[in-house]
Amino acid sequence: MLGGVKSPTAIAAVLAAACGNDPGPPDVPPTLGETGLYADVATRTVAPEMRPFTPQYPLWSDGAAKQRWIYLPEPIDASRADWQFPVHTRVWKELSVGGRRVETRYMVRTPAGWRYATYVWNADGTEAALAPREGLASAEVAPAHRIPSEGECRACHANGATPVLGFAALQLSIDRDPDAPHAERPAPGSLDLASLLATGELAGYTGSIAPRIAGSPVERAALGYLHANCGGCHRADGPVAAVGLDLTDPAAARRTAIGRPSDFGAPKLRVAPGAPADSVLLARMRALDPLSRMPPLGTRVVDDAATHLIASWIDQLADNQHLETRR
Ligand code: HEC
Ligand code: HEC
Repeated sequence: MLGGVKSPTAIAAVLAAACGNDPGPPDVPPTLGETGLYADVATRTVAPEMRPFTPQYPLWSDGAAKQRWIYLPEPIDASRADWQFPVHTRVWKELSVGGRRVETRYMVRTPAGWRYATYVWNADGTEAALAPREGLASAEVAPAHRIPSEGECRACHANGATPVLGFAALQLSIDRDPDAPHAERPAPGSLDLASLLATGELAGYTGSIAPRIAGSPVERAALGYLHANCGGCHRADGPVAAVGLDLTDPAAARRTAIGRPSDFGAPKLRVAPGAPADSVLLARMRALDPLSRMPPLGTRVVDDAATHLIASWIDQLADNQHLETRR
């Protein structure tokens, strides 16, 4: 499907293909209240069995503030790196812009598969209604905020063995990265690897409760950011795999990004050690035109904190290479 992509102008076609997966029947209720998140939606009292979590590397959504909850009917099968969530798992992510709730995104695992939907809040914040599948160009409460289409949800979420991106070992580590761009303070009672193991909800998990990306503070934060913000698409499986750029972990980034030629900007490198200005990866994070912007979905505002971090990381790579050749 993607094999021949050698030009950024092909992106529209690639994403259309990624978004074009059969969405299945909607199977989701017309209002957020009916999804069960709240004991009382008008006062926004969250039901006690819906538990908060706070991934250490959040997705950049043009500065929107976020809160997340999960409902787990049974333990997760965590025996492999891609955790398998039980049927009837429900996950919510609420986005606020300028202190006002704008939308609450919702994923549910039905017996027929995962479903994606988003609910748009009314002006007085007392209820949220199911958005149309094709998304909304502008939400009335926050004119600059776009509500993604269901196809866009799938393009980011439905590429790997699990669609859940922020509830995974690295994201729930008890050793949180203080330099993660836009690091959020964990909500009170937030689930993490320690609490999930204590309640027996991570069946078969054999990893550490404190996984972390090795390296200098800058390297750790930079690779964590790329893992969360880019690795959902830039991975070894799924429709974007043919680009040959894998940002899910440090070894993959080293293999496919650092010192690797760009498919599109020859003779530029994807990441040119010591030369941020010559690195296609950074240029595309700074780009605003929709044909070049990365990520291509869900953002129209450059993430300044992240681009500064990635630039310092690329600068530092020159020193590391120097050390390696002297060894
Ligand atoms: C640009 C890619 C992107 C798009 C578009 C996107 N998401 Fe996500 N979403 C993510 C990432 C990455 C995370 C984990 C990090 C975070 O929560 O900040 C996430 C987290 C979530 C979560 C919490 C569960 C989890 O996977 O961690 C829900 C629920 C969710 N998204 C639903 C949706 C829905 C519904 C849509 C479409 C209306 C959507 N998302 C569109 C990338 C995306
Ligand atoms: C929704 C899926 C998606 C997400 C998320 C995403 N990308 Fe991409 N990316 C693509 C697609 C599709 C292409 C190939 C078409 C193109 O180049 O526009 C691509 C191409 C690229 C390329 C060009 C590779 C080359 O050989 O020159 C770079 C660099 C890149 N992405 C970086 C990033 C970075 C950095 C992030 C996160 C900040 C990111 N992408 C997030 C889908 C995505």
